[in-house]
Order: sequence, then structure tokens, then C-alpha cells
Amino acid sequence: MILISGANRGIGLEMARQYSNRGDEVIGVCRVASDGLRALGQRVIEGIDVTSEADLQTLSRSLRGVTIDRLINNAGILSREGLDDLDVDRVLRQFEVNAMGPLRLTAALRGMLGKGSKVFIITSRMGSIDDNTSGGYYGYRMSKAAVNIAGKSFSVDLKSRGVGVFMLHPGYVATDMTNNHGVPAQQAVAGLIERMDTLELEQTGSFWHQEGYELPW
Ligand SMILES: NC(=O)c1ccc[n+]([C@@H]2O[C@H](COP(=O)([O-])OP(=O)(O)OC[C@H]3O[C@@H](n4cnc5c(N)ncnc54)[C@H](OP(=O)(O)O)[C@@H]3O)[C@@H](O)[C@H]2O)c1
Repeated sequence: MILISGANRGIGLEMARQYSNRGDEVIGVCRVASDGLRALGQRVIEGIDVTSEADLQTLSRSLRGVTIDRLINNAGILSREGLDDLDVDRVLRQFEVNAMGPLRLTAALRGMLGKGSKVFIITSRMGSIDDNTSGGYYGYRMSKAAVNIAGKSFSVDLKSRGVGVFMLHPGYVATDMTNNHGVPAQQAVAGLIERMDTLELEQTGSFWHQEGYELPW
């Protein structure tokens, strides 16, 4: 079973669609379901905000007995503050959703992971320190760098249970987040799923572009 956060739109919805189309069982987790998500005919759990501990406990209770083969931390937000228009509340909000969200969700559901399960974090190369040559985006970059190191710790902590953990960058993808600029979500998600299918436990704790090459931290 494949659990996806932020499954109601964007990259999350397209992942739910492509997994569904090939016959995988998906649980789409979101705040409010969309028609597109419902149309897949898969299980949908709505009312889950990844910043709410109470919601995540509710989610965990409703999944009792389920084994999660792929836990996909996808929900995320982006705002574009620079040094001259720094809005600390927006920086903190991105940290809450993009960094704390995957930490909370993965911690809440860790009991449902078994040998061979994989955890994915849909992060961004904007969280790469080596790759940052254009600056700005304080909240987004900081939150994605933070989630990358959380993912690295998950990989160490879960390896003895046979659970692999991988950080994935989807590329620049046409969704609401980018005002529909970038490559089509269908193309980016095909690459993401290929990585999800092929990454193995020996590679746990690594950071990949969906196109198939490793990214620097
Ligand atoms: N698009 C790109 O070019 C790009 C590049 C690099 C990385 N990414 C990453 O890819 C992931 C998906 O992005 P996207 O492009 O698909 O963005 P999107 O179209 O804006 O979708 C964002 C998703 O995250 C959910 N979400 C946001 N805040 C949430 C919260 N507090 N609790 C639960 N769900 C929440 C949204 O749900 P609601 O509908 O309820 O708001 C929505 O389902 C994000 O982590 C993003 O950082 C995207």
C-alpha cells in the first residue's frame, strides 16, 4: 500500500493517478479531497493537516493493521521571501509544513513500515547547500535543507528494520506552486516513480533528481 500526503492536487495527485493506473493500492491523504482524487476510486483520508499532531494521531489510528510499502511525504508549500522582504511568519510556516510535516508524519506512521518498505521525501534541490548559487527563498531553502537532514536521520534509524529512506527532487514542475511553469507533472512523476521502484536499501539516505542522478547536499 502506498500512502501519499498532499494527494489532492499537483504532484501528489499525479502520483496517486499513476500508481492507481498501474494497479497499486493507494491511500490519498489530504486536507480536503478533490474530484480528481476521488475519481481514482482509491481510499481517501481527508481532514489531515500535516502540521497538526492531533490530525496525525487520528490518521495513525485509522490505519491500524495496515502495512505501508511506500510512505510518500509530498505535502509542501513555497513562498518567495528575500532578504529585503523577510516575513518571519512565512519562513516559520514553511518550516512547519516542509520540515516538521514529514518528521511528524513519518514518526506517526513508523509502526506501519515493515521490512522492504520505503519512505520518500519530496524535497527540492533548493534545499541543497552546494547547489545554492542564486540565494533568496529563505524559508523554502531552509525548510528543505532541514527535511533533508531529517530524512538522513530516518535512514540511519530505520535501516536495521529494513526500511529505506530517500530524498527526491521532482524537477521544476508545472503545478499551482510554480504558477504552472515547468515540465508537465505526468513527466516528472513518471521519473519519480521510476526512482521509487529502483532505489534499494543499500542506497538508503541518498538524494536524487527524478531524472536519475544523485544531487549534492
Ligand atoms: N512544483 C515544483 O516545481 C516542485 C519543485 C521541487 C519540489 N517540489 C515539492 O513537491 C511537493 C508537491 O508540490 P506541488 O508542486 O505538487 O505543489 P502544489 O500543487 O502547491 O500542492 C501542494 C500540496 O501540499 C498540500 N499541503 C500544503 N500544506 C499542507 C498542510 N499543512 N497539510 C497537508 N497538506 C498540505 C496541498 O494541500 P491543499 O490543497 O490542502 O493546500 C497540496 O496537496 C512539495 O513538497 C514541493 O515543495 C515541487
